[in-house]
Amino acid sequence: MVKKVILDVDTGSDDAVAIMFAALHPGTELLGVTTVNGNVPLVNTTDNSLRVLDHIGAGEVGVHAGLSRPLVRHDFPAPKRFVRDSDRDMHGTELPLPAPTSRAHPLGAVEYIVQTARALPGEVTLVPVGPLSNIAAALAVAPDLVELVPEVVVMGGAHQFGNETPAAEFNIWADPEAADMVLSAGFAKLTLVPLDATHQALVSLADVERLAGLGTPAGEAAAKLVQRRISAYAAAGATGRDDAAPVHDALCTAYLVRPEVISTRPVHVTVETRGDRTVGRTVMDLRSGTTAVPNCDVAFGADAALFNQLLLETFAHRRGQAGSEP
Ligand code: RIB
Ligand code: CA
Repeated sequence: MVKKVILDVDTGSDDAVAIMFAALHPGTELLGVTTVNGNVPLVNTTDNSLRVLDHIGAGEVGVHAGLSRPLVRHDFPAPKRFVRDSDRDMHGTELPLPAPTSRAHPLGAVEYIVQTARALPGEVTLVPVGPLSNIAAALAVAPDLVELVPEVVVMGGAHQFGNETPAAEFNIWADPEAADMVLSAGFAKLTLVPLDATHQALVSLADVERLAGLGTPAGEAAAKLVQRRISAYAAAGATGRDDAAPVHDALCTAYLVRPEVISTRPVHVTVETRGDRTVGRTVMDLRSGTTAVPNCDVAFGADAALFNQLLLETFAHRRGQAGSEP
C-alpha cells in the first residue's frame, strides 16, 4: 500500500535526500513538505526544500513554512558545533542546486498538518526529520492529531553518543520542549530513528560514484550532497572514517518502504529539558525489568547495504516516469 507522507524538514543536505526519496519512491506519496527552523534559518530551509523539489521536477508538491524558532527558547540559533559554510558544515546555508522557481504555499505548516490529518484520518504518516517545533505546535492546537495519525517516524535522539553535545542529538537539542511534547503525546506508533541507527547506515564514496552514475537529477543531486557530507564528517573526524557519512533523514524515508532497513525495540523515552550539560538528551529506559511503558520503537540497528540499494533504486527514477516498484 502506498504511504501518504508529510515530511517535516529543516533542509539541510540529508533532509534533501529524504525529500527526493519520498517524492520518487513509488511506495510513498509525498502529500506535502513542511519546513522548520533547524540546520539553517526557516527562510533557507524553505528555499532549500523548494530547490530540491524543483530540481527533480516535483515542484507541484506544496512547501509550507512553519516555526522560525523553538517553542520556548529565545536563545536559538545558539553557537553551533561548526562554523556555518566552513569545511565542517555538512549542509551549507544554500544547497548547491539552482534557485527555485516555485514558491512556498501560503498555508502555514501547522495549519497544513492539522487540516491534512483531519481530511485523511488514519492515512497520513508524519515524518519529522528536523526539530519538532511544528509537530508540537500542531499538537497544541489539535490534540486530536494523536488519534488521526497512525504513525510518526522521527529522526532524532541518541543513546550511545550525541552530536550537538556529548549528550544530545541536534534535532532534539534544538527544541527539547517540543520533542518532549511529541514523544509523550501518546501516538499509537512512534518510531524513533536516533544516531545509534543512522551511524550504522553510512553512505560511502563508492556509493556516491554509483549515485552520480545514474545520470538522473536525483542521483546527481544526492551524489553532490552526500559527497559534501563525507568531506565535512572527515574534516570533523566524526565517524572514524574519511570515506563515508551518515545521511540520517533518508533512513527514515527508507524505513517507510522497507521497514527491515532498521531494527527496533520498544522503549520508554523521555527528553531532558533542564540540565545545562544534558539538555536535549533522549533518556532511554533500557533497564531489564523496567515497568515503564514503552512510548517509542527505537532503532538501534540499520542495514547499510539495503539502505544504499534503496537509494540507488529510488534515484534511478525520474519524476513522472512510469516505473516498476523498486
Ligand atoms: O542529528 C542529525 C539531524 O540533525 C538530521 O536531521 C540533520 O538534518 C540535522 O538537522
Ligand atoms: Ca534534518
